[in-house]
Amino acid sequence: MSNHQQVLGTLIRYFKENTTHLADSELRVPTSHFTDDEHAARELALMRTVPVVVAHHSELPDPGSFVTRDVLGTPLLIVRQRDGSVGASINICKHRGGRVEVCEAGKKRAFTCSYHGWTYDRDGSLRHIPYAQFFEPLDRLEHGLAQVHTEERHGLVWVTLDPGEKPQTVAEYLGADMEERFREFNYEKSLLVLDKQFTVPVNWKLVVDGAVDSLHPKFLHPYGVGKLISTNTCVVESSGLHMQSFTPRMRLEKAVEAGEEDQVEGFYKHVGSSMFVFPNVNAAITPHHIEFWTTWPSSHSPSECTIHIRFLADPDTYDEKMAERIAKSWEILEEAATKEDWPMEETIQANALAVSGVYIYGRNEAGPQHLHRQLARKLAESEAGQPA
Ligand code: FES
Ligand SMILES: [Fe+2]
Repeated sequence: MSNHQQVLGTLIRYFKENTTHLADSELRVPTSHFTDDEHAARELALMRTVPVVVAHHSELPDPGSFVTRDVLGTPLLIVRQRDGSVGASINICKHRGGRVEVCEAGKKRAFTCSYHGWTYDRDGSLRHIPYAQFFEPLDRLEHGLAQVHTEERHGLVWVTLDPGEKPQTVAEYLGADMEERFREFNYEKSLLVLDKQFTVPVNWKLVVDGAVDSLHPKFLHPYGVGKLISTNTCVVESSGLHMQSFTPRMRLEKAVEAGEEDQVEGFYKHVGSSMFVFPNVNAAITPHHIEFWTTWPSSHSPSECTIHIRFLADPDTYDEKMAERIAKSWEILEEAATKEDWPMEETIQANALAVSGVYIYGRNEAGPQHLHRQLARKLAESEAGQPA
């Protein structure tokens, strides 16, 4: 668990010494990791063995509330149950494979496949077969929709598609340190105030890299984000597979320049933080909201991903004024992401497809290094047969 005073002290020291958090060594990643079909398939297989975030609690407010989502190549029907828990079924009809629920979201007592009317309960069990007398008797228990390991924790719905024999709980997966980091932000109470999705012709890892890259703001975003956050100054705290990083806002840099660092008040007003949950969550912490990103590799091409961005707000401080501030934050983020970050990442993807080579992650790029190091470690481990 991070200590705000300590992080602040370290960032101030980095400014004074003109340095930043340093990884033990430089890292080189072959461009094939961003373009190769076989490598992408290995990553997808690995991602299916760990809990991934598929929904915010408020997307499923009541029993029967549901969302449908394609998660790592598998269509899911995610439903709030009568007892308040959340269940996820594979959204494929047991009759002849139709997509059972086609709406993106809604609320239903039961789910009827529109092809021949087979009907399933909220928990996926098979309830009704029209013209059942013409089928051989079948075990309804065995012909319910296949279930996927699901857990709601920290106000988020997590699924593990291929959990193996003994599914890990989310708490086990996050570990005690990351659990505590989550608790600081009260995700359970959070309101979902913005929900956007973008599909871009970029490998998913370039987007995840970009979200924790503290080396680019003043170069790629000279007029927007680069004026708000410092460049090449960052504290990186690894937490096993996961990580939290801290980047100063320009306000802190200016205070240090003016020799007024002792007067700094309000941690998140001066420091931006990003929580990374392996493999694809980046949650940027701001003083008024959380910008919660999940980046999904496409299941058919290494050169495509879908970025799901949710803004989460604190209900205790959310009012009209806050809504305006958050809308302004979205304007800044949208401008940076859609006009600067993703277009740059698109050129990198196109270049990686055109000419193979390696990408270099300097010692000062410990944040972006983290994903690649952990991914390489987990791929090696899971392929050697150890649990993810
Ligand atoms: S495929 Fe669903 S009812 Fe026939
Ligand atoms: Fe950026």
